[in-house]
Amino acid sequence: MRPVRTGSGDRPDARPAISVDLAQYRHYARKSINELCGAAKVAIGIMSGAENGRATEIQAAMALLEFYREVGVDMALGETPVDRFLESRLELEARQARAAIAAPATGRAPTGVRLPAERARPEPQAQPQARVAAAAAVPSGDEVAAARQAAASAASLDELRDILSWFNGCNLKQTAKTLVFADGNPEARVMFVGEAPGREEDEAGLPFVGRSGQLLDRMLAAIGLDRTQVYIANVVPWRPPGNRTPTPQETEICKPFIARQIALADPQVLVFLGGASAAALAGTKDGILKLRGRWLDYNTGARSIKALATLHPAYLLRQPIQKRLAWRDFLSLKRHLEAESG
Ligand code: URA
Repeated sequence: MRPVRTGSGDRPDARPAISVDLAQYRHYARKSINELCGAAKVAIGIMSGAENGRATEIQAAMALLEFYREVGVDMALGETPVDRFLESRLELEARQARAAIAAPATGRAPTGVRLPAERARPEPQAQPQARVAAAAAVPSGDEVAAARQAAASAASLDELRDILSWFNGCNLKQTAKTLVFADGNPEARVMFVGEAPGREEDEAGLPFVGRSGQLLDRMLAAIGLDRTQVYIANVVPWRPPGNRTPTPQETEICKPFIARQIALADPQVLVFLGGASAAALAGTKDGILKLRGRWLDYNTGARSIKALATLHPAYLLRQPIQKRLAWRDFLSLKRHLEAESG
C-alpha cells in the first residue's frame, strides 16, 4: 500500500494532520477492513508506555481504516495501485497499432474480432505502467482463451466445478473467499443466472443467499417454485471485492464457464436476473427495462433454449415499485412452464 494521508481535506493549503506509511502493514493485505481495525486495536492494547510513538502511529492507521470502513471500503487488496482505465486504453492502443500494421497488407481494415493467440501485449519496457498491470495479473485475451479451453473440457457439472476451483485466470479468485458455483437442482427445468455473488454468497459459497436471494425465494414461492425445482448460478462465480460491478474483462473470462454450465445443465428455460446477466448471455445492448419480459432464444451450440430476462432482485429491493414488472415476468414464466408440461 502507498503512504496514505488523513485529515488534510482537499484544500491545497491544508497540511496533513496524520501521515502513515501503510507499507509496513503489508502483511495485512487482503484482510477485511474489519479485521485490520481489530488487529490495530489489539496492537495498541499491548503497547507499553515506552512504545508510545508506535502506538500513536497505529492509532493513526486505525483512524484511516475506520474512515475507509465508513465510506464503504471493506477490503484491502494489495500494495500496488492498478489503473484499470489505463489497462483498457493500452489494450485499445495495441489493437489500433496492430490494425494500422495489418491494414496495408490486407488492403482492408481488420475486424474487431481476433483470435486470442494473435493478441500482442503492449510492450512492457516502453510502458512502465503496463508492468504494474502485468504484475497484478490483469486478465487478457490469453486468460479468455484459457477459460474457453478449460470450460470446454468439462464433461459434467461436477467436472466444471473442479475446473473452476483450480482455474487461476480470473483475478477475482484471489480476493474471493469461496467459489460460488450453484445452488438448487441441476436437473431442474428452469435455470436462473445472476450477475456475481455478494458478501453473504461469498461466505456461504452459494448464490443468492443474502437479501436479494431471500426476495428471489419469495418470488419463486409466488409461482409455486422453490430451490428444489430450480437451478441457480451466476455469470461470475467469484465475489468482486466490495461488491463492485465485475469489469468487462472479468465477465469475458467467466463467460465460457457459465455458458458451459448452461449447456451441461441443459434447462428447458433460462431466466437472466438483471441487465448484466442478460447483456453477458443474450449478447444484447438493450437495457433491462426494454429487454425484460421478452422471450429470447439462447443458443448453447447444441440447441436453442427459451430465455426470459427480468429485473434483478437487488434492483427490486431498491425500487419496490418495479416489483409489478417482475411479477408479470414471473407469471409469464409460470404460464410458459405450464404450457410446456402439457
Ligand atoms: N446478486 C447476484 O447477482 N448473485 C448473487 O448470487 C447474489 C446477489
